[in-house]
Amino acid sequence: MNVLLIGGGGREHALAWKISQSPRLEKFFAIPGSPGIADFAECVENISISDNAALVNFAKEKNIDLVVVGPEAPLVNGLTDALEAAGIKSFGPNKIAAQIEGSKIFAKRLMKKYKIPTADFEVFDSADAAKDYIRAKGAPIVVKADGLAAGKGVIVAQTLEEALAAVDEMKNFGAAGSKIVVEEFMDGEEASVLALTDGEKILPLIAAQDHKRVFDGDKGLNTGGMGAYAPAPVVDEKISARVEEKILKPTIAALRAEGIIYRGCLYAGLMIVGGEPKVVEFNCRFGDPETQVVLPLMEDDLLALMDECAAGTLSDKKISWKNQSAVCVILASGGYPKAYKKNLPIDGISKAKTLGAMIFHAGTKISDGELVTSGGRVLGVTVTAPTLQEAVDKVYRCVEVIHFDDAHFRKDIAAKALK
Ligand code: AMP
Ligand code: GLY
Repeated sequence: MNVLLIGGGGREHALAWKISQSPRLEKFFAIPGSPGIADFAECVENISISDNAALVNFAKEKNIDLVVVGPEAPLVNGLTDALEAAGIKSFGPNKIAAQIEGSKIFAKRLMKKYKIPTADFEVFDSADAAKDYIRAKGAPIVVKADGLAAGKGVIVAQTLEEALAAVDEMKNFGAAGSKIVVEEFMDGEEASVLALTDGEKILPLIAAQDHKRVFDGDKGLNTGGMGAYAPAPVVDEKISARVEEKILKPTIAALRAEGIIYRGCLYAGLMIVGGEPKVVEFNCRFGDPETQVVLPLMEDDLLALMDECAAGTLSDKKISWKNQSAVCVILASGGYPKAYKKNLPIDGISKAKTLGAMIFHAGTKISDGELVTSGGRVLGVTVTAPTLQEAVDKVYRCVEVIHFDDAHFRKDIAAKALK
């Protein structure tokens, strides 16, 4: 099969690494790809991932059999619809199905209508009405922009003042913040369950836990994710069965009942409250950095599974997993998620690899023949080991040998699970 991967972050590097192991793979391209992905695929940088027509033309020209779409933006932008119209198979939901991430209101209303467990909520298009509701409900309370806001459109307000200010901040998200969701605060432990689906059958992957806050002890601003580990013991067998029966299967069925066939990866962000999983959010794609810890543990041929999802022929066969743990620590540029420097030379990657790490590039580029930083999240240092404790010890030995100016990382990834 000839495959085109869309995206160039750490998640896409992990996808490329796993896809490259498939015996079915023939030619492999990535747009835009990255210096990490370049180990596996030919990277094409001069086509924008928001230019559907150009992407379709490229796929036709290269006889692509399957397009794998990594990030949410091109999915919400209808890339898979454009590919389908041209007769090209793709892994990833179509535009209307991607609304499950693209519009929080769509997702919340779907969950309410089909009784999928989630926080109670109200939708507002007027700031004053939202504020009245918040005053009546009190804090803690959560304020969310309806549309895509690069992970920044959610404010978990601990006080009434913060919640009221959050309503005003929603204006900063433009159209994405013109409607807002105010929802009940859920107190529990978070986990992410990603699942492959062809629109009818659904195959959950092992649960992972992300660390969204920038500093140790879950302090500081929300980020795209500072590290992850899998499997996450908070999702034990019982909870995992509940997630499948109460959340994943009903959501795919609810979408079908609405005339929507969801094909690709469905990401359920969960809060485990008193032993019951509730949905915090859905995403229409693989998680980042969850993918970097889930795929290294997967035994199966991911490309074959993705092709079955795209074709609508996913089998009932359960996925096999290595009996190990994986941990990923993100090396970020100092200052992230606010302003940070770029173009800082990176060294120590080869050394970390000799110590057993997989290095997934999240924000790097080659400049004058040298590897430099080009994003807030720079590298995802990932290891697998027989136990979670061993994986944690090993990952930090690897992190220590990588250097760039002002590098920042959390020192407590997976600590919650080891307590
Ligand atoms: P989201 O982008 O919807 O995943 O929200 C970002 C983060 O905000 C989540 O990972 C949670 O940590 C937190 N969050 C969102 N909604 C709630 C809620 N209803 N209760 C508590 N925390 C929440
Ligand atoms: N790790 C959070 C996300 O992928 O949305």
